[in-house]
Amino acid sequence: MDMPRILVIANQKGGVGKTTTTINLGTALAAVGEEVLIIDLDPQGNASTGLGIEESVRTLSSYDVLLGNAELRQTPIPTTIPRLSVVPSTLDLLGAELELASMERRAYQLSEAIRRHFIDFQSSKNPGQKYSYILIDCPPSLNLLTINAMAAADAVLVPLQCEFFALEGLSQLLRTVEQVRDTLNAKLTIHGIVLTMFDQRNNLSDQVAQDVRSFMGDKVYKTVIPRNVRMSEAPSYGKPALLYDSKCSGSQAYIRLASEVIRREKALQAA
Ligand SMILES: Nc1ncnc2c1ncn2[C@@H]1O[C@H](COP(=O)(O)OP(=O)(O)OP(=O)(O)O)[C@@H](O)[C@H]1O
Ligand SMILES: [Mg+2]
Repeated sequence: MDMPRILVIANQKGGVGKTTTTINLGTALAAVGEEVLIIDLDPQGNASTGLGIEESVRTLSSYDVLLGNAELRQTPIPTTIPRLSVVPSTLDLLGAELELASMERRAYQLSEAIRRHFIDFQSSKNPGQKYSYILIDCPPSLNLLTINAMAAADAVLVPLQCEFFALEGLSQLLRTVEQVRDTLNAKLTIHGIVLTMFDQRNNLSDQVAQDVRSFMGDKVYKTVIPRNVRMSEAPSYGKPALLYDSKCSGSQAYIRLASEVIRREKALQAA
């Protein structure tokens, strides 16, 4: 059986669109027939809330998976979107870093949990759900939670907000990815950089976008996500923007991003 593609959505800067990208990319991939699992690895739990998962039903969470209290297959909760499930997060995750610190394999907890899931699946012992994509939503930090995600992933997808210090933060993130590749996960690559909350009326947005493209070349997706008020309204309804208003410019951009992601995946497989 094919392993799922595991993409981690990371940027240590807060509020750049990680969760919005995770939710809407996940929804768009599910809409074209992929089986998608989102793992919410942020104690804030925004991906869980944004997918309509009430706190009262989060009995098993990403915290339990990381600490080995539960197997991955026990934790996904279906969403209202067909083929899209989420491993929710709870505030317990705030303490996870400290608890992980004393473990020898602390950086590999998530990676090993995912691997066990697919070994069980292949041996049809405890078969869990099969996924073609796992998307991991990270907290705004390069902490042990994000490192666990990077150690488990095939590639990193970086949402970047078009603003003044964007490139500075990006260099630090790229260094961390290199360190993880050198020490924990040799296969880790940068899947791509997605420019988010792009404001057409703002010259700075344009300038930053150009700078990022000249620095990162074709690692930057052609699709740019516009700033769009419908995108920020959707989470309070517990719905992906793609469900809340599929026609708005932001939703349409995430549909295009999903096809770009799939195209890159096909190119990788063919290579
Ligand atoms: N394209 C967009 N247009 C308008 N608002 C957006 C857009 N994308 C995200 N937002 C809003 O911006 C805020 C930050 O987005 P989001 O939560 O996705 O960022 P984040 O990187 O996950 O934040 P954190 O670092 O806190 O986890 C949210 O209120 C979200 O609804
Ligand atoms: Mg977030």
